[in-house]
Amino acid sequence: MRTYLVTGGAGFIGSNYIHYMFKKYDKDIRIINVDKLTYAGNLENLKDLEDRDNYSFVKADICDKEAIMKIFEENDIDRVVHFAAESHVDRSIKNPEVFVQTNVLGTAVMLNCAKAAWELPDGTFKEDKKFLHVSTDEVYGSLPDDDSAFFYETTPYDPHSPYSASKASSDMLVKSYMDTYKFPANITNCSNNYGPYQFPEKLIPLIINNALNGKKLPVYGDGKNVRDWLFVEDHAKAIDMVQEQGKLFETYNIGGHNEKQNIEIIHIILNTLQEMLPDGDKRKEYINESLITYVEDRKGHDRRYAIAPDKIKEAIGWYPETMFKEGIKKTIAWFFEHEEWMKNVTSGDYQKYYEDMYKDR
Ligand code: NAD
Ligand code: TYD
Repeated sequence: MRTYLVTGGAGFIGSNYIHYMFKKYDKDIRIINVDKLTYAGNLENLKDLEDRDNYSFVKADICDKEAIMKIFEENDIDRVVHFAAESHVDRSIKNPEVFVQTNVLGTAVMLNCAKAAWELPDGTFKEDKKFLHVSTDEVYGSLPDDDSAFFYETTPYDPHSPYSASKASSDMLVKSYMDTYKFPANITNCSNNYGPYQFPEKLIPLIINNALNGKKLPVYGDGKNVRDWLFVEDHAKAIDMVQEQGKLFETYNIGGHNEKQNIEIIHIILNTLQEMLPDGDKRKEYINESLITYVEDRKGHDRRYAIAPDKIKEAIGWYPETMFKEGIKKTIAWFFEHEEWMKNVTSGDYQKYYEDMYKDR
C-alpha cells in the first residue's frame, strides 16, 4: 500500500485533494496529513475522514525539522504532496516574513527530510519515491491586458508580490534539488482555484459570503484584472496524474482555460445566487449590483494571469473538465449546504482581519 505525506491538507486545496484521493483509491492508499492549523487550516474540512484507519493527522509546523523527520522515520513514505504554505497575496503585502518562513524555509525542511529518508548510500534514491511541489502561476508575473500572451513552463520567473516571490523561491529550491541530487520531484504551477472549503479571504468565497449577508462587494482598482479560474477538483486530479504519469524532474502548468475579469466573476456570482435561491427568500431582495463597491487597488496588483495548459494535455491527457458555469453552481450549492462552516470560519479572528484589511479601502 502506497503511503502519502500531504502537507497543508487541512487547507482549501489540500483537503479537496485528500477527499479526491480517497474517492479514487479508497483503501489502496494511506494518507498522513501534516498541518500546523494556521488560520487557514481547518480540521472540519476532513471530519468525514476521521474514522478511516488509512488516514491520520499530525499537527506540526513544516519548519520544525525534528517533527517532520520523525514522520519519515516512523513511516515508509512513498509520495510527498507539498501544499502547506501561506497563500494569500494581501496578507503577504502586510506581513511578508511569515511567507518566507513557511514557503521557503518550510519547503527546505520538507526537501531535506525527504532526501534524508529516500537517499541510498551511493547517492541515488530508493525506487518509486516522489515529491510533488504544489506551486502557482503567479511566479511568472503579470501578462498584458490583451489575449495574445500566456504563461508556459518556459516563461521566465518574474514574481511581484511577497507571496509569489516566496513561492518562486521555493520552486527554485526544488529545482536545485532535482539538478544537484537528481532528487525525484515534480513542480506544478496552477492558476487560481475555486470550490468547496475555500477560505473567504479569496475573491470568490468572499463575494459569495458578503452577497448572502448583504455586505458590500469590494472590487480592487477598475475590476478588470484577469484571473484564470480552475475548479479545485480538476486541480486535485491533475496533481495525481502528474505524480503518476508525469516525467520526473518536469514542471507542468495547470490552468482552467477560463480567463475572466474580476468584475465579470462578481456579476456571474450575483446572477447565479439569484437563480439558485428559492422564490420568497428575503436575500433575493438585496443581492444585486448595488452591493458592488470599487475600492483602492491592491499594491503592485498583477494585471492578468493566463495559462496555456498545452504541455500537461499533450503529455498526460489532463484538461480542465469543469466548465465555470457548472463549477460556480457546485461551489454556491456547497456554501448553501455549509452555512455553519462559513459561520465558524468567519467568527472571531476573521472579523478583525476583515476590518483591518478593508478599513482604508
Ligand atoms: P490555504 O491557505 O487554504 O491552506 C494552506 C494550509 O497550509 C493550511 O491548512 C495551513 O494551516 C497550512 N500551513 C500553513 N503554514 C504551515 C506551516 N508552517 N506548517 C504546516 N502547515 C502550514 O492554501 P491553498 O489555497 O489550499 O493553497 C495550497 C497550495 O497551493 C499553496 O502552496 C499555494 O501556494 C498553492 N496554490 C494555490 C492556489 C489557489 O488558487 N488557492 C493556486 C495555485 C497554487
Ligand atoms: P485572490 O482571490 O486574492 O487571488 P490572487 O490575488 O492570488 O489572484 O484575488 C483574485 C483577484 O480578485 C485579484 O485580482 C484581486 C481581486 N480581489 C478583489 O477585487 N477584491 C477582493 O476583496 C479580493 C480578496 C480580491
